[in-house]
Amino acid sequence: MHPLQCVLQAQRWGPLASVSWLLFRTCRAQSSVHGTTYPGPGRQQENGVQKDFSSRLAAGPTFQHFLRSALDPQEKPDVEDPPPYLTVDELSGRQRKVYLETYGCQMNVNDTEIAWSVLQKSGYLRTRNLQEADVILLVTCSIREKAEQTIWNRLHQLKALKTKRLRSRVPLRIGILGCMAERLKEEILNREKMVDILAGPDAYRDLPRLLAVAESGQQAANVLLSLDETYADVMPVQTSPSATSAFVSIMRGCDNMCSYCIVPFTRGRERSRPVASILEEVRKLSEQGLKEVTLLGQNVNSFRDSSEVQFNNAVSTNLSRGFSTNYKPKQGGLRFAYLLDHVSRVDPEMRIRFTSPHPKDFPDEVLQLIHERDNICKQIHLPAQSGSSRVLEAMRRGYSREAYVELVHHIRESIPGVSLSSDFIAGFCGETEEDHLQTVSLLREVQYNMGFLFAYSMRQKTRAYHRLKDDVPEEVKLRRLEELITVFREEATKANMASVGCTQLVLVEGHSKRSATDLCGRNDGNLKVIFPNVEMEDVSNSGVRVRAQPGDYVLVKITSTSSQTLKGHVLCRTTLKDSSAYC
Ligand code: 5AD
Ligand code: SF4
Repeated sequence: MHPLQCVLQAQRWGPLASVSWLLFRTCRAQSSVHGTTYPGPGRQQENGVQKDFSSRLAAGPTFQHFLRSALDPQEKPDVEDPPPYLTVDELSGRQRKVYLETYGCQMNVNDTEIAWSVLQKSGYLRTRNLQEADVILLVTCSIREKAEQTIWNRLHQLKALKTKRLRSRVPLRIGILGCMAERLKEEILNREKMVDILAGPDAYRDLPRLLAVAESGQQAANVLLSLDETYADVMPVQTSPSATSAFVSIMRGCDNMCSYCIVPFTRGRERSRPVASILEEVRKLSEQGLKEVTLLGQNVNSFRDSSEVQFNNAVSTNLSRGFSTNYKPKQGGLRFAYLLDHVSRVDPEMRIRFTSPHPKDFPDEVLQLIHERDNICKQIHLPAQSGSSRVLEAMRRGYSREAYVELVHHIRESIPGVSLSSDFIAGFCGETEEDHLQTVSLLREVQYNMGFLFAYSMRQKTRAYHRLKDDVPEEVKLRRLEELITVFREEATKANMASVGCTQLVLVEGHSKRSATDLCGRNDGNLKVIFPNVEMEDVSNSGVRVRAQPGDYVLVKITSTSSQTLKGHVLCRTTLKDSSAYC
């Protein structure tokens, strides 16, 4: 028998129920859980006794169970009904301490909090001290080879911790969560025998069960991707009570299939969270006093809530001019402009940002809204990836350099003073020196305020892996990357210089890391602003002198800049509505 035995199980009930293939890896030739033989589908046994069909049916969920869940999918018990091979007690955390470590993008930071929310409800405790952990979970990234290498190295360190563990303590369990679990699946379990559990990005609800299985010394995995999982009902736990800002996940997955990108394979198909549940989360965050919300997703502006039939009558929005998609046009649903409009109305003192968008989904209604609404930050991430139309075509980005530049002009006309950022990849398959120079010239032409630049890293499964040749030598990729970074910095410094002498609205985050006498916050464009911690006037209480606290809005006059930071002196404490900060 193959050591990997698949057991088919309904993961959760209800109209959106998905069915998951759960992989149990056993040390023995026969699949077993908790010392009890776990039979394959169709040959069910319990305590060695074959039960007849009608008695098994009587013990299963009733028709009412399905109806109840169908009527109210939000109402789920904290500890789900245990599968037949586990007791409620085994499924609970029993005060075990979990140490979570996050790698990669902002989505993973959010996923970490979702995973923690699930485990907390199940009776686990969280620790920030690796030494006292009973469970160590790494939330991983696969986007580039280097990201995965970091995880392998970390696993080797953790191996030592596991081996040295005192016998008097419960055995240490180690889990790999997120994209790397999804990409490599059982390869991780085979390569690193000390990994106990694997959970892909859509399997975090299953963590208590996976850990319960691991308790018995077996490896457990759930790497099923879902078509509908958005964790809409799992409120991520705010880890820092003093935090001024939070991320709110609005959609997951990606349908774009850019030829270099592993994300559609690790995070699955694009799906949006219902608007109502997003608004509820934003309202709660506003009540907690948070001052900034960043809407999060792989393609936030492709948002499309089709969760209710009547949403499909909504007026459809267009793609940006000159942009196309790799997939069949989608119709209906509540779109990003609708969401942004409603989210920004929740609290006029709450700043709204969003990341990461795709340039194809910037219709005029989105741009107008950003322009008109005071609390939507005038900051747009516009990932270009390359400045060469030839390379963009090979990347299957769905636009040419010309269409992209036209969009940049249109955005700048629609939202005066907008700050732009971008992602670029150096050394993609077939990129010539001439292509590279076109990227350099795009950086000069657009003059971004922020940039994220990477050397191309070939990923298995992607279209580029199957159809193109990774033919730019490593040293050339790195040299081109260096050149892009240098040009980006020169241009960003010039762009930021334009703010010297201006008064900007800054949301205070706390003390500056570099100096105890300075405070640090962010301007509307999301750039860091440093200023001395001094007393100032409060616009709402004239005559009262105050010191800025995290979560306050202050006006800062900018006196100097670099490519990444602005410095200035603080003028007064204000509110978002009262500020007329832009020069
Ligand atoms: N190699 C290098 N960079 C990549 N990115 C995505 N896939 C790859 C890859 N295979 C970059 C893109 C994307 C950002 C999140 O990561 O620029 O926008
Ligand atoms: Fe990857 Fe392209 Fe989707 Fe972004 S849009 S996650 S780069 S496939």
